[in-house]
Amino acid sequence: MKNHQLTITYFEFESVVELNDDDKFLLNEAEKASHLAYSPYSHFSVGAAIHLVNGVIVVGNNQENAAYPSGLCAERVAMFAASSQFPGIPFRAIAVTAKSENFLVDFPVSPCGSCRQVMAEYENLSKEPIRVILKGETGKIIVFEKSMDLLPFDFNSDQLKSK
Ligand code: THU
Repeated sequence: MKNHQLTITYFEFESVVELNDDDKFLLNEAEKASHLAYSPYSHFSVGAAIHLVNGVIVVGNNQENAAYPSGLCAERVAMFAASSQFPGIPFRAIAVTAKSENFLVDFPVSPCGSCRQVMAEYENLSKEPIRVILKGETGKIIVFEKSMDLLPFDFNSDQLKSK
Protein backbone atom coordinates (compact mmCIF):
# COMPACT_ATOMS: atom_id res chain seq x y z
CA MET A 1 0.00 0.00 0.00
CA LYS A 2 1.29 3.45 -0.89
CA ASN A 3 0.05 6.63 0.68
CA HIS A 4 -0.11 9.56 -1.78
CA GLN A 5 -0.86 13.17 -1.02
CA LEU A 6 -1.94 15.91 -3.37
CA THR A 7 -1.43 19.59 -2.74
CA ILE A 8 -3.62 22.15 -4.47
CA THR A 9 -2.61 25.79 -4.53
CA TYR A 10 -5.09 28.60 -4.92
CA PHE A 11 -5.07 32.28 -4.14
CA GLU A 12 -7.65 34.12 -2.10
CA PHE A 13 -8.40 37.83 -2.46
CA GLU A 14 -10.56 39.88 -0.12
CA SER A 15 -11.95 42.07 -2.90
CA VAL A 16 -11.61 42.89 -6.60
CA VAL A 17 -9.35 45.84 -5.86
CA GLU A 18 -6.60 43.32 -5.01
CA LEU A 19 -6.85 41.61 -8.41
CA ASN A 20 -4.62 42.30 -11.40
CA ASP A 21 -6.18 44.28 -14.25
CA ASP A 22 -6.70 41.24 -16.51
CA ASP A 23 -8.56 39.27 -13.84
CA LYS A 24 -10.62 42.34 -12.89
CA PHE A 25 -11.59 42.92 -16.53
CA LEU A 26 -12.50 39.28 -17.15
CA LEU A 27 -14.63 39.11 -14.00
CA ASN A 28 -16.44 42.23 -15.08
CA GLU A 29 -17.21 40.60 -18.45
CA ALA A 30 -18.49 37.50 -16.60
CA GLU A 31 -20.67 39.67 -14.39
CA LYS A 32 -22.17 41.44 -17.42
CA ALA A 33 -22.87 38.02 -18.98
CA SER A 34 -24.60 36.83 -15.77
CA HIS A 35 -27.19 39.58 -16.20
CA LEU A 36 -28.18 38.00 -19.53
CA ALA A 37 -28.60 34.44 -18.17
CA TYR A 38 -31.78 32.50 -18.88
CA SER A 39 -32.45 31.10 -15.42
CA PRO A 40 -36.22 31.29 -14.77
CA TYR A 41 -36.23 28.05 -12.75
CA SER A 42 -33.29 28.42 -10.36
CA HIS A 43 -33.25 32.24 -10.31
CA PHE A 44 -29.49 31.70 -10.03
CA SER A 45 -27.71 33.54 -12.83
CA VAL A 46 -24.17 32.60 -13.68
CA GLY A 47 -21.83 34.37 -16.09
CA ALA A 48 -18.54 33.10 -17.50
CA ALA A 49 -15.95 34.93 -19.57
CA ILE A 50 -13.01 33.33 -21.35
CA HIS A 51 -9.86 35.14 -22.44
CA LEU A 52 -8.38 33.34 -25.43
CA VAL A 53 -4.67 33.57 -26.20
CA ASN A 54 -5.55 35.48 -29.39
CA GLY A 55 -6.98 38.23 -27.16
CA VAL A 56 -10.64 37.53 -27.88
CA ILE A 57 -13.09 37.40 -24.97
CA VAL A 58 -15.97 34.92 -25.27
CA VAL A 59 -18.77 34.98 -22.73
CA GLY A 60 -21.60 32.65 -21.76
CA ASN A 61 -24.31 32.30 -19.16
CA ASN A 62 -26.50 29.51 -17.87
CA GLN A 63 -29.33 28.48 -20.15
CA GLU A 64 -32.10 26.61 -18.36
CA ASN A 65 -34.95 24.57 -19.77
CA ALA A 66 -38.37 23.38 -18.60
CA ALA A 67 -36.91 19.90 -19.08
CA TYR A 68 -34.35 20.66 -16.37
CA PRO A 69 -31.45 18.41 -17.49
CA SER A 70 -31.54 19.98 -20.94
CA GLY A 71 -30.14 23.23 -19.54
CA LEU A 72 -26.45 24.04 -19.53
CA CYS A 73 -24.08 25.83 -17.14
CA ALA A 74 -22.53 29.19 -18.01
CA GLU A 75 -19.02 27.75 -18.11
CA ARG A 76 -19.86 25.13 -20.73
CA VAL A 77 -21.93 27.58 -22.79
CA ALA A 78 -18.85 29.86 -22.87
CA MET A 79 -16.30 27.09 -23.48
CA PHE A 80 -18.29 25.47 -26.28
CA ALA A 81 -18.94 28.85 -27.87
CA ALA A 82 -15.21 29.67 -27.69
CA SER A 83 -14.14 26.32 -29.10
CA SER A 84 -16.74 26.41 -31.86
CA GLN A 85 -15.85 29.94 -32.97
CA PHE A 86 -12.08 29.65 -32.39
CA PRO A 87 -11.23 25.95 -32.63
CA GLY A 88 -7.82 25.08 -31.23
CA ILE A 89 -7.14 28.53 -29.75
CA PRO A 90 -6.07 27.94 -26.12
CA PHE A 91 -7.96 29.51 -23.24
CA ARG A 92 -5.74 31.73 -21.12
CA ALA A 93 -8.28 32.25 -18.34
CA ILE A 94 -11.91 31.81 -17.40
CA ALA A 95 -13.76 33.98 -14.89
CA VAL A 96 -17.05 32.87 -13.35
CA THR A 97 -19.50 34.74 -11.16
CA ALA A 98 -23.12 34.37 -10.07
CA LYS A 99 -26.04 36.23 -8.54
CA SER A 100 -29.35 35.03 -7.18
CA GLU A 101 -32.80 36.60 -7.01
CA ASN A 102 -33.34 34.83 -3.68
CA PHE A 103 -30.22 35.47 -1.61
CA LEU A 104 -26.89 37.23 -1.65
CA VAL A 105 -24.20 35.08 -3.24
CA ASP A 106 -21.42 35.99 -0.81
CA PHE A 107 -19.05 33.13 -1.75
CA PRO A 108 -17.12 32.30 -4.92
CA VAL A 109 -19.27 30.18 -7.25
CA SER A 110 -17.77 26.76 -7.77
CA PRO A 111 -17.96 25.07 -11.19
CA CYS A 112 -19.79 21.74 -11.26
CA GLY A 113 -18.01 18.49 -12.02
CA SER A 114 -19.09 18.40 -15.68
CA CYS A 115 -17.74 21.92 -16.27
CA ARG A 116 -14.46 20.94 -14.59
CA GLN A 117 -14.21 17.94 -16.90
CA VAL A 118 -14.76 20.16 -19.95
CA MET A 119 -12.14 22.66 -18.71
CA ALA A 120 -9.72 19.76 -18.24
CA GLU A 121 -10.31 18.66 -21.85
CA TYR A 122 -9.35 22.07 -23.25
CA GLU A 123 -6.40 22.42 -20.87
CA ASN A 124 -5.11 18.98 -21.93
CA LEU A 125 -5.63 19.84 -25.58
CA SER A 126 -3.62 23.05 -25.53
CA LYS A 127 -1.10 21.92 -22.87
CA GLU A 128 -1.37 25.48 -21.53
CA PRO A 129 -2.73 26.18 -18.03
CA ILE A 130 -6.16 27.79 -17.83
CA ARG A 131 -6.37 30.33 -15.02
CA VAL A 132 -9.69 30.06 -13.18
CA ILE A 133 -11.12 33.10 -11.34
CA LEU A 134 -14.20 32.55 -9.16
CA LYS A 135 -16.39 35.15 -7.45
CA GLY A 136 -19.88 35.63 -6.01
CA GLU A 137 -21.77 38.90 -5.81
CA THR A 138 -19.72 39.85 -2.78
CA GLY A 139 -17.06 38.23 -0.64
CA LYS A 140 -13.70 36.76 -1.39
CA ILE A 141 -12.40 35.81 -4.82
CA ILE A 142 -10.43 32.65 -5.41
CA VAL A 143 -7.99 32.04 -8.23
CA PHE A 144 -6.51 28.77 -9.47
CA GLU A 145 -3.50 28.90 -11.77
CA LYS A 146 -4.64 25.84 -13.70
CA SER A 147 -7.97 24.14 -14.11
CA MET A 148 -6.44 20.73 -13.29
CA ASP A 149 -6.26 21.92 -9.69
CA LEU A 150 -10.06 21.77 -9.72
CA LEU A 151 -10.15 18.23 -11.10
CA PRO A 152 -7.21 15.99 -10.37
CA PHE A 153 -7.80 12.52 -11.84
CA ASP A 154 -9.79 13.84 -14.78
CA PHE A 155 -10.84 11.38 -17.42
CA ASN A 156 -8.83 12.14 -20.53
CA SER A 157 -8.16 10.91 -24.04
CA ASP A 158 -5.09 8.88 -22.95
CA GLN A 159 -7.49 6.57 -21.19
CA LEU A 160 -9.19 5.78 -24.48
CA LYS A 161 -6.01 4.14 -25.81
CA SER A 162 -4.21 0.98 -24.81
CA LYS A 163 -0.79 1.58 -23.24
N1 THU B 1 -24.74 26.77 -12.77
C1 THU B 1 -23.82 27.28 -13.61
O1 THU B 1 -24.15 27.83 -14.68
N2 THU B 1 -22.52 27.21 -13.26
C2 THU B 1 -22.07 26.76 -12.07
O2 THU B 1 -20.88 26.81 -11.81
C3 THU B 1 -23.00 26.22 -11.10
C4 THU B 1 -24.41 26.11 -11.53
C5 THU B 1 -26.15 26.92 -13.13
C6 THU B 1 -26.87 25.67 -13.54
C7 THU B 1 -28.30 26.05 -13.24
O3 THU B 1 -28.82 26.79 -14.33
C8 THU B 1 -28.20 26.99 -12.05
O4 THU B 1 -26.86 27.45 -12.03
C9 THU B 1 -28.53 26.33 -10.72
O5 THU B 1 -27.81 25.15 -10.56
